[in-house]
Amino acid sequence: MSKRSLIMAPETGTRINKRVQTNDGGTVRAPTDAPVTENSPGRKKVIVRDLYKSFGTLDVLKGISMEAHEGDVICIVGPSGSGKSTFLRCLNMLEKPTSGTVIVDGHEMTDKHVNLNKARRSIGMVFQQFNLFPHLTAKKNIMFAPVDLGVMHKREAEAKALELLDRVGLSDKADSHPWQLSGGQQQRVAIARSLAMNPDVMLFDEPTSALDPEMIGEVLNVIKELASTGMTMIIVTHEMNFAREIAKTVIFMEDGKILEQGSPADVFQNPKEERTRKFLSLIVDK
Ligand SMILES: Nc1ncnc2c1ncn2[C@@H]1O[C@H](COP(=O)(O)OP(=O)(O)OP(=O)(O)O)[C@@H](O)[C@H]1O
Ligand SMILES: [Mg+2]
Repeated sequence: MSKRSLIMAPETGTRINKRVQTNDGGTVRAPTDAPVTENSPGRKKVIVRDLYKSFGTLDVLKGISMEAHEGDVICIVGPSGSGKSTFLRCLNMLEKPTSGTVIVDGHEMTDKHVNLNKARRSIGMVFQQFNLFPHLTAKKNIMFAPVDLGVMHKREAEAKALELLDRVGLSDKADSHPWQLSGGQQQRVAIARSLAMNPDVMLFDEPTSALDPEMIGEVLNVIKELASTGMTMIIVTHEMNFAREIAKTVIFMEDGKILEQGSPADVFQNPKEERTRKFLSLIVDK
């Protein structure tokens, strides 16, 4: 994959008009005609209907439907090979679904007439392997997409990068290259990088599974902070305690389908399906 396509796909643009900065550095939806009260459900940010994905003769996603409202944190768990990464990659069209509908922040990603480059600007993605550009400093990794896509001038992007580095606790690492950073620090830079474009939805694919245990907490804390600002997030994770703490909804995927979903209490304490129970008994609190 070329450097450009790597950054173009997951690192996306800005919807500055629709979100406003809060004093604590977070963002909230700008006021609209219809006031959002504490109890009113947020707007639908992600809608997936009947999603299928095959690689040749291998059927990987077999009819996935789900929704995420604004501010929802959805954690996806499930055995290896069940299609979790493929599902996330279908949301921003890093994989092209075989059939079905994906709508993110009002953009129908599966419509062949959609402007994908524009549509992808509302989605940030963080991978297990941080995928930072090795030849760029932390600051320049964060500045790259906004400047390259012409969304920000260099000076504005630099100010944003420094603000984001501060937010992920890495103000002192702005001029460090990835090889000078620990895994946890690299992943925090990767998170800052995907926030540089002010995404509306963040996707995380096992963001801590390549990390040494002592670095997992620092990355999870950054993700928790992000959740507290109302960011809509879909997170594939094996960190069950984290999922229990942060998720509004837990989805258990198996064999390309959603086998069950519900609140963390429902899925972790009262799984309906025997298969979920078995999976959880192997993984919970490890
Ligand atoms: N580009 C591809 N070409 C062919 N097969 C693929 C491709 N990507 C994924 N697969 C297959 O699709 C299935 C689901 O893979 P996927 O990576 O989505 O699973 P996963 O649930 O994320 O697993 P893990 O927990 O190990 O990350 C696997 O059988 C995998 O080999
Ligand atoms: Mg995976």
